[in-house]
Amino acid sequence: MAILVTGGAGYIGSHTCVELLNVGEEIVIVDNYSNSKPKALERIREITKKDFKFYEVDILDKESLEKVFSENNITEVIHFAGSKAVGESVAKPLMYYHNNITGTLVLCEVMAKYNVKKLIFSSSATVYGMPKTVPITEDFPLSTTNPYGTTKLMIERILEDLIVADPNWSIAILRYFNPVGAHKSGLIGEDPSGIPNNLMPYISQVGSGKLKCLQVFGNDYDTPDGTGVRDYIHVVDLSLGHLKAIEIVRKQIGIEYFNLGTGKGYSVLDMVKAYEKATGKEIPYVIAPRRPGDIGQCYADPTKAKEKLGWEATHTLEEMCEDTARWQSMNPNGYED
Ligand SMILES: NC(=O)c1ccc[n+]([C@@H]2O[C@H](COP(=O)([O-])OP(=O)(O)OC[C@H]3O[C@@H](n4cnc5c(N)ncnc54)[C@H](O)[C@@H]3O)[C@@H](O)[C@H]2O)c1
Repeated sequence: MAILVTGGAGYIGSHTCVELLNVGEEIVIVDNYSNSKPKALERIREITKKDFKFYEVDILDKESLEKVFSENNITEVIHFAGSKAVGESVAKPLMYYHNNITGTLVLCEVMAKYNVKKLIFSSSATVYGMPKTVPITEDFPLSTTNPYGTTKLMIERILEDLIVADPNWSIAILRYFNPVGAHKSGLIGEDPSGIPNNLMPYISQVGSGKLKCLQVFGNDYDTPDGTGVRDYIHVVDLSLGHLKAIEIVRKQIGIEYFNLGTGKGYSVLDMVKAYEKATGKEIPYVIAPRRPGDIGQCYADPTKAKEKLGWEATHTLEEMCEDTARWQSMNPNGYED
């Protein structure tokens, strides 16, 4: 019996695989390396001293995916595989709709064929669009501001329809807030290609001297210091949320939605200061205009995950910064040699 992890070589997937192996789960990973490197898998083995099967397969390739199901006794699927860069999704919407939505359709078709109906799906806080208030609960209205977000929302809707048609499915939709940090070993972490889109990798590359200066997009939001506020969550906490989600999808839950966040909002400047304090490195920054589509504040109410999953985030902001900095200093070029 094994859990299939799609996108398991990626940032959140690799951390989740470590936690799954640590608790003795058997896993099979599928990834096409479109946004990851084989070295991440070597590092998972190094950290856990455990082995697993890997298939270099694109989930759009139905025949190859069927082979994975026919060769393994898959009992649940954690579905991370997808494209995730907001800006790129605006430039290449068709690619995003195809990879994220068609990829999920193909996966679900193959799952249904092999009678595997327990699924954990990586959604995002982006499905709350421009929330009118914070903190955000799971029953907030849903909308999107970019094609990437629309793919996540459309997949949520597809999975809802799927369960109406066949109540034997058991699906947990996890809406992640802002994952940051890295495994304590410094062996796995976020490895953005090119200039990072996300704040923490950007800050850490400024901290290491790879980039010169951070651009802070907007300081006139309705927040305590005017810069955007987000719910940063340590990637290991996020990964542990998947272990709890596996427990509940093994029972028949229908479809359930969970916010995975800390419930605390930190501004861009809070993050800069916290990183400087944790690492002793100065982070020079300049204020730039707001980015279209960005929102002022976004943070979770994680009560449902606490009550129904028995999960809550425990890592501190200091650990998020220290662990990011350790990964950056041990791997200045990510997984590249
Ligand atoms: N990192 C975030 O800020 C964040 C926030 C909310 C939701 N999510 C979602 O969580 C999931 C994982 O995110 P991540 O940060 O680990 O991203 P990532 O890019 O590091 O990992 C995704 C992995 O999927 C693989 N992949 C992509 N398309 C594939 C395909 N067609 N077939 C096989 N493999 C494919 C990539 O090679 C990569 O290894 C994604 O679905 C993402 O949208 C991420």
